[in-house]
Amino acid sequence: MPVTTLIKNATCQLPGGAEQIDVLISQGKIVLDPASFTNVDETIDATGLHLLPGIIDDQVHFRDPGLTHKEDLYTGSRACAAGGVTTFLEMPNTNPATITCEALHNKLELASQKSIVNYGFYIGATPHNVAELRQAKRTPGIKIFIGSSTGDLLVDQQEALERIFAETTLPICAHCEDEATVQSNAAKLDGGKCFTDHSKIRNHEAALVATKRAVELAIRHKHRFHVLHVSTAQECDFLSEYQQSVSDPAQRLITAEVCPHHLFFNVDDYDRLGSLVQMNPSIKNKADNKRLWQALQEGTIQVIATDHAPHTLEEKDQPYPKSPSGLPAVENSLALMLDAVNRGQLTLQRIVESMCEAPAKVWDIVNKGKIEQGYDADLVLVDMNLKRKILNENQLTKSGWSPWHGTSLTGWPVKTWCNGVLVYDGKNVRENHRGQEVLFDHTAG
Ligand code: DOR
Repeated sequence: MPVTTLIKNATCQLPGGAEQIDVLISQGKIVLDPASFTNVDETIDATGLHLLPGIIDDQVHFRDPGLTHKEDLYTGSRACAAGGVTTFLEMPNTNPATITCEALHNKLELASQKSIVNYGFYIGATPHNVAELRQAKRTPGIKIFIGSSTGDLLVDQQEALERIFAETTLPICAHCEDEATVQSNAAKLDGGKCFTDHSKIRNHEAALVATKRAVELAIRHKHRFHVLHVSTAQECDFLSEYQQSVSDPAQRLITAEVCPHHLFFNVDDYDRLGSLVQMNPSIKNKADNKRLWQALQEGTIQVIATDHAPHTLEEKDQPYPKSPSGLPAVENSLALMLDAVNRGQLTLQRIVESMCEAPAKVWDIVNKGKIEQGYDADLVLVDMNLKRKILNENQLTKSGWSPWHGTSLTGWPVKTWCNGVLVYDGKNVRENHRGQEVLFDHTAG
């Protein structure tokens, strides 16, 4: 295996913008100083290609332990490598749920044995585990399900939420769909009969009420807070108002995330895709797609993540409301966004900001998210002209399907390095590579 690799002639997406410079990978780190470019084991001519920092996906569900018939840390991370994702942060709704420090450490141990790329795990909040949340280390932060989703993690009692925001210090993120609104909508629709009912039950109001509630708590308790998977225009307007009210970006406590499925799908897609586009929060309307794109472009939303949430096709085939919510996306998210760049919807620099730099910043990740001297050599080389179709039969996720099956995209990752090791060469994933535990410096944030 080469110890030093020189990547020549690529257009590099550096923090300040694109530049054509050579990048050396040495002992797992990025070297930008040309004087060091001696004793090179391997040279890659990347003429015509773009070099990006490896993608950091801050919201995935890899189902390990307990639900490994859908995905596991090995198959999920293999899909990451092929998709240009070098770091994932995984959610606590596994079985057992990650709601104790012991469960968190068990997951870290499991990932050290199984994960091809770098990993971190959230600790999940319950109404009664504040002591665990206070003790937790080696984690990006706390996840609260303010609305219920897959699994039984739910904290919607005000008193419990107040305690979590008041008595913990780790950054918090939340699934924001108001449980009372969802239950009342479901009752009106007799539980729901078809997939379109899903978006009527988990409606705009449910998302907005919960997002406002969580943001209000965070501001009152001066707690850093990340709104996961924003799905409505109204939430974008609300977040934009918040930003305007805090003019100094360094003083802002609130950040937000959008997922490709909420950018690309809307209720019109239920006819064609049915349960494949059933997820929580639900997909909304065309006007919401439009506002989410705008919020991403203007910086009201800082992070793109997938909420990769695989279920088997047999599970998805059940009629509504038995069909589970969630879809796999980790191996296609970068390509979907590169294709959007080619269609003029976004710049490549904005992709690097929202898929690399911002998640590293939001979660205090050490040494990742940028092509910078001394940073970890987590890198992805992309070919902006490569055309390829997403096909179920090619998916590496254990669930073996994609809601984008049949979609032709231009712009794909062609090589992925994780800690300086080539883990994807455009065709194959280096299956025996193991990633590292991500380090978080929460004293810096
Ligand atoms: O649709 C979803 N599925 N949304 C979530 O937040 C959870 C996820 C899952 O774990 O299946």
